[in-house]
Amino acid sequence: MTASMNEIDTYAKQWIKEAGERIRSSFPNRLNIQSKSDPNDLVTNIDQETEQYFIEKIKGTYPEHKILGEEGYGDDVTRLNGVVWIIDPIDGTMNFIHQRRNFAISIGIYEDGIGKIGLIYDVVHDELYHAFKGEGVFLNGEELPKLETRTVSESIIGLNATWVTENRRLPPELLSPLVKQARGTRSYGSAALEMVYLASGRIDAYITPRLAPWDFAAGIIMIEELGGVATNLRGERLDLLNQSSVFVAKPGLHGEILKNYLKDGKW
Ligand code: IPD
Ligand code: CA
Ligand code: CA
Ligand code: CA
Repeated sequence: MTASMNEIDTYAKQWIKEAGERIRSSFPNRLNIQSKSDPNDLVTNIDQETEQYFIEKIKGTYPEHKILGEEGYGDDVTRLNGVVWIIDPIDGTMNFIHQRRNFAISIGIYEDGIGKIGLIYDVVHDELYHAFKGEGVFLNGEELPKLETRTVSESIIGLNATWVTENRRLPPELLSPLVKQARGTRSYGSAALEMVYLASGRIDAYITPRLAPWDFAAGIIMIEELGGVATNLRGERLDLLNQSSVFVAKPGLHGEILKNYLKDGKW
């Protein structure tokens, strides 16, 4: 018998809260910190233990489900058939290490490539954002309103300063007019939090030239459920199996930025 999405949802919410509790209770302990691809690409024992915790729970209950996790303890996922959990055990590891805040657990649950459940848990503030396709997005159980359009001059844009300096991924001059004309810019250091801040109206758009699927899998389910738009920087559909640029925004604003600043992807 295949499990219902409602049942999966109930377990997922329970496990993400438990994982958050484990992270909070680890705060007094010394972290074991290592670098991955470069000296600023960090991972801790808590990132690893949290991912392992989810895998144990999911595989123990749903052995047929596949898991794509950042720290590599899950499956080698090359297709999105069946139920796939896309997990970032700690999104914002640098913040977790340096600030002990501004990080989140992110879980997107897909069925045959369609986003069904999105969970992002801001562990320190005990804020659980939860999307269930077709039923809305909730913050600690309270439904969030649909996203309404807004102009660039009234908008706060989530954007890391790196992308308007010389870099390998984007012409720096592309985004500087947007930075000048927007009401303001912010950078929170956690893609998952930037996405829930968009979902809850704290910011109006978020632009980044490179993310992995576990950074955005949950967030885009929430944003689309609320009528927002999620694409790459060229306005194309996001690829959940590969790294990608990501551009999410309120409806209307997405089109305005894509056309007037991102030049419809022609750069
Ligand atoms: C990172 C954060 C950060 C984003 C990086 C991600 P991690 O995730 O989401 O905001 O700019 O590209 O890698 O490594 O802390 O899970
Ligand atoms: Ca990482
Ligand atoms: Ca991440
Ligand atoms: Ca991570």
